[in-house]
Amino acid sequence: MLEGQVAVVTGGANGIGRASALRFAAEGAAVVVADLQQSAAESVVDEIVAAGGRAVACSLEAGSREQNEEMADLAMSSFGRLDVLLTAAGISHGHYSSGDLEAEVKRATRRMEVAEQPGQAFLDIELDDWQRVIDVNVTGTFLAMQAAVRRMVETDTRGRIITIASIAAKNPDAGPTAYTVSKAGVWMLTKKAARELASAGIRVNAIGPGYIRTNMTALIHQIPEVEDRLMGQVPMGRVGEPSDIAAAALWLASDESAYMTGEILHPAGGYFTG
Ligand SMILES: NC(=O)c1ccc[n+]([C@@H]2O[C@H](COP(=O)([O-])OP(=O)(O)OC[C@H]3O[C@@H](n4cnc5c(N)ncnc54)[C@H](O)[C@@H]3O)[C@@H](O)[C@H]2O)c1
Repeated sequence: MLEGQVAVVTGGANGIGRASALRFAAEGAAVVVADLQQSAAESVVDEIVAAGGRAVACSLEAGSREQNEEMADLAMSSFGRLDVLLTAAGISHGHYSSGDLEAEVKRATRRMEVAEQPGQAFLDIELDDWQRVIDVNVTGTFLAMQAAVRRMVETDTRGRIITIASIAAKNPDAGPTAYTVSKAGVWMLTKKAARELASAGIRVNAIGPGYIRTNMTALIHQIPEVEDRLMGQVPMGRVGEPSDIAAAALWLASDESAYMTGEILHPAGGYFTG
C-alpha cells in the first residue's frame, strides 16, 4: 500500500511507533525510525532490513526543533522524499522512560497514597513534570509536523500526517492531568493543521487509542485488580495490540482514506465511543 513512499516515525523504537514502522516497511515504505532510545531504534531498523525492507535510525529528542529538522533532512538525504509522518513519541508523565517498569511501580504506589488526601493529587503536580509532558507530547508533535511539512511543501508532495493522541484527549479519566491536557492539545493541533494544510494537499489525522499493550501500560498488567477493572470497561474484553494501531495508521497513511482529514479514530475495543 505504500510502495515507493518514505515514512518518518517518531517514537519508532517501541510499542505503537515500532509496530507502525514495521507495518509501513512491510507495505513497501522506506522508514526513518526516530527515537530517544537510539539502540532500540537501531534494532527496529535491523528487523526491517532483515525482512528485506529499507530503514535508517535517527536519534531524536522530540522537544528539539533542531533534531526534528535533522530527522526530516535524514529522510530526504537517505531516501529522497518524505510522504508520511507518524508521531508516536510520547510520555505519560515527566519522568516516564519507556521500559523502566520498576520506576513506574514506585510512582504508582506514591500516587495511590496521595490520591487518598483531598485535592492533593492536583496540588502535587510539579511544574517541571507538567512542562516536560507538554514539551514532548504537544511541542514535539508540532515540531515534527513543521519539519515534515516544510519538505512536503518544498517538493510538492501530497503528504499524510498521523498524530497519536489518546482517548485521554476527550476523557479526563484516562490519564494524569498533564497527559490528558497534552493529548487534547495534540487533537486540536491535528484539527488546526488539517485545515491549514488541506490547500497544500496534505492530510492530517489523529489516532486516539484505548488501552494498548505497550511499555506505557505495562504497569496495569502488573496489578490484577487494576487490569480486571479496566478490562471490565472494554466491551470487546481485551487490551489492544500495537498492531491494531498500526493497521489504523496504515489506512490513514494510504489513499484508501483520501477524503479524510482533521479526524480522530479511536481503536479502543468500544471503551470510548464519544
Ligand atoms: N499504550 C497505550 O495504551 C496508549 C493509549 C493511547 C495513546 N498512547 C500514545 O501512544 C504513543 C506511543 O506510546 P506507547 O504506548 O507505544 O509507549 P512506548 O513507551 O512503548 O513508546 C513511546 C516511545 O516514545 C519514545 N519517546 C519518549 N520520549 C521521547 C522523546 N522526548 N523524544 C523521542 N522519543 C521519545 C520512547 O523512547 C518510546 O520508544 C504515545 O504518544 C502514547 O501517549 C498510548
